[in-house]
This record gives sequence, structure tokens and C-alpha cells, in this order.
Amino acid sequence: MAMKNLTDLVPGLTLAQDILTPNGRLILPRGTLLTDRHIDYLKRWGIARVNITEKRGIHIEPGEVLGMLTEEIEGFLAPIFARNDLQHPLVSAVYRLGVERLRGKAMDGWKPPRKGASLPVSDHRFKDEFFAGDYSLKELIRHEVQLSSFPDIYFKISQAINSPLSNADYLARVISSDVSVCAKLLRMVNSPFFGMPSRVDSVSRAIALVGADELSTLAMGISAISAFKDIPENLVDMKAFWTHSLAVGIISRRLGEDMPEVAKEKIFVGGLLHDIGKLIIFKKLPEASKEVIINSQTNLLPAHQSEQEILGFDHARAGSLLAGAWSLPDFLRDQIKGHHDTGKMISREAAIIHLADFLAIGLVFAEKGSIILPALNPSSLKMVKLGPENLKDVMTDVEQEFKEISAIFFG
Ligand SMILES: [Fe+2]
Ligand SMILES: [Fe+2]
Repeated sequence: MAMKNLTDLVPGLTLAQDILTPNGRLILPRGTLLTDRHIDYLKRWGIARVNITEKRGIHIEPGEVLGMLTEEIEGFLAPIFARNDLQHPLVSAVYRLGVERLRGKAMDGWKPPRKGASLPVSDHRFKDEFFAGDYSLKELIRHEVQLSSFPDIYFKISQAINSPLSNADYLARVISSDVSVCAKLLRMVNSPFFGMPSRVDSVSRAIALVGADELSTLAMGISAISAFKDIPENLVDMKAFWTHSLAVGIISRRLGEDMPEVAKEKIFVGGLLHDIGKLIIFKKLPEASKEVIINSQTNLLPAHQSEQEILGFDHARAGSLLAGAWSLPDFLRDQIKGHHDTGKMISREAAIIHLADFLAIGLVFAEKGSIILPALNPSSLKMVKLGPENLKDVMTDVEQEFKEISAIFFG
């Protein structure tokens, strides 16, 4: 990328960044291959300098193609926002940022998916082991826990935290005994996301810097992810599921940064695990899950409402019961249980996760899975400082962190 004065521009160069008016309206998107007309257009807007990339761009008519693109993006976002009031200042700011974000992605080659592209396909392997209904929910969770598909390391960490005899050294040894969890954990701690002053090369050093409690929660969160490997890929796109969850974790942690009383690593793990109830539903009730997805997309219902209609319970309840059966700490159980509450939020942390979930869906971090945005709960805004005025700052930090952390998670 190189900065060039407008007087030095010649046709054939490509814009490296979006060119915006002072009030944020897009004049020309990044990736535009400049012609004399574009250069004139920029002059008329009084633009003095622009960033140029070496990549070859595409030809875009000023104004015209952009209008079509925006129309397509707005068509894609309409069902997502169907259950929300676009007059609400925060909802409207999220919507506008969503359009902007997708426009940026479209300039990099993204296209809105075809209608119905994320519906599950028929698969003879789908077989429900249980009947829907609350009684069955408890049964199926008991069954899942008995199967104990949960990684050994998780229980060892949990035991080490709860034992009065354990200390930081013992905890470090337990975490280090699982090579893959330990490697991911150290890569995360060393990423700019954590902002450590120097390189952290051992778990004991990480415990000293991050704190035993926070680091164990993080290790438990990382190990929990491996518990759900055998879910039919025709039913749920696991990459999309974890992309959404990771985005919620990162946004939650960023929102928690402005609140000193919130433990950042714990809220990150809360975000990461907030929808685990969905995974147990997919795993144990795959046929009914198919109906849940179809009902959600046909009637534009958020996942938890569609689950209530089809199953008689939702993933927030399933997730909190599962978290209880796994002896996850109480604060995680509360965050999972409360993230779709419609009245007063159960805790400040649940309010953070509710808002982070709202942003992750509204800004389309993952296109598959839950794509109908639940209604924004206004009571969450009484507990968390988030408004149209700081949304962009929050999300600029998040985008950068998301790139770093997803490379560690999915790389
Ligand atoms: Fe959820
Ligand atoms: Fe979610």
C-alpha cells in the first residue's frame, strides 16, 4: 500500500481503501480500478490523498454498481433484522455497520448466499435418540454425560481448581499434560490479543501473568470445543458455529474491557461456550434440529424461539443444564442460561454476552447457523456501555483481534 496525492494519480491504479465522505458515505470502494472518470470524481469530492495497492482491482462505475451491490446486501440483511426495530439507535447503527462490513467483504469477492443455501439436507444418518420435550432434555443430558465424550483434561483441570490441596505448580502440570490444549493456550496468550509484555513460554509463567483462575477457565473452554466432533456436517457447519462463538467471545471480552469488575478471560470463555446447548440438541435430536432450522428460516424466528416451538425448550436451557452436568463454574452456567432472556438480565456478564451475540449475528461474522437476529433486550443496555457512538471503535478492535485469534483456533 502507498499513499498518493490526487495530482499523482493515473488511470490503471487500484484503490487500497474505501473512500468516504466526511459523514461516512462511500464514494468509491476499495478495489476500484481507477479511470480518468474516477479521478475526476475524487477531485469533485475534494479528496486530497488516497491509498493505492499493487493488487489489480475491478472496474466499477462511480455510484452505479455500488447501488446494486448495496441493494443486494440490504436484501440479504432484511430477514436477519426482521425481528428488530430499525428505528432503535443501536439497532440502526449495527445495521449500517453490517452493510458497510458486507460491502467491504463483497469488494474482496464475497457474494450474498443463495436463498435456502444454509438449510440442512436429508441424511439417512440423522436419527433422534430422544423425543423432544423438557423431560427428555434432562434424560438426554444425563445420557451425554454418561457417554463422557468430554475430554479428560477438562475434568483434571476442574478437579485441580476445586481441590484445596492444589497449587499453581500442580495446575501448570495438569494443563501442560495435554499437548494440544497447552499449545493453543500458549499461542493465545502470546497473541497481541493478550498484550503480554514479553514472550510467555510456559504454562506456569502464563498462570503467573494471567492468573490461575482465568487461565484454567481458558483451558477448559479450549478443551470443551473438542467434545463435539461427531455432529453430522450436513446438519450444522461446525466452522460457522465456532466462528460465531469465537466472535461472541472476542466481542464480549472487548465490551468487558470497559468494565473493571468483569473478568476478561472468563467472559471470553462465556462467549465461546454460550451456544453449546445447540450442539447437544444437534447431536441428540438431529431430525428435530432440521425442523428447528427450517422453522427458523421460513418464519424468520431466532433459533431459541424456533427451538421453543418445536422442542419445548431452547438451547440456553439445554446449555445451562449441560454446563451444570459438566460442573462448569456457576458464572458460566448463568451466562449460558441468560443470554436470550427477555426481561431483566440475570447478570452483567449475561447482558454482555447477549449484546455480543447481537453484534456477531447483526454484523454477519458467520453466514450459516443462527442467522435471524434475536430482538435486542433493552435492559442489557442499562448494564453495558454500548451505543451508536462507541460501536465503531469497539468493532475496529474486534475485527483485528478476530483475525489473530481465529488463525489460532482454526489455523
Ligand atoms: Fe444463543
Ligand atoms: Fe449465539
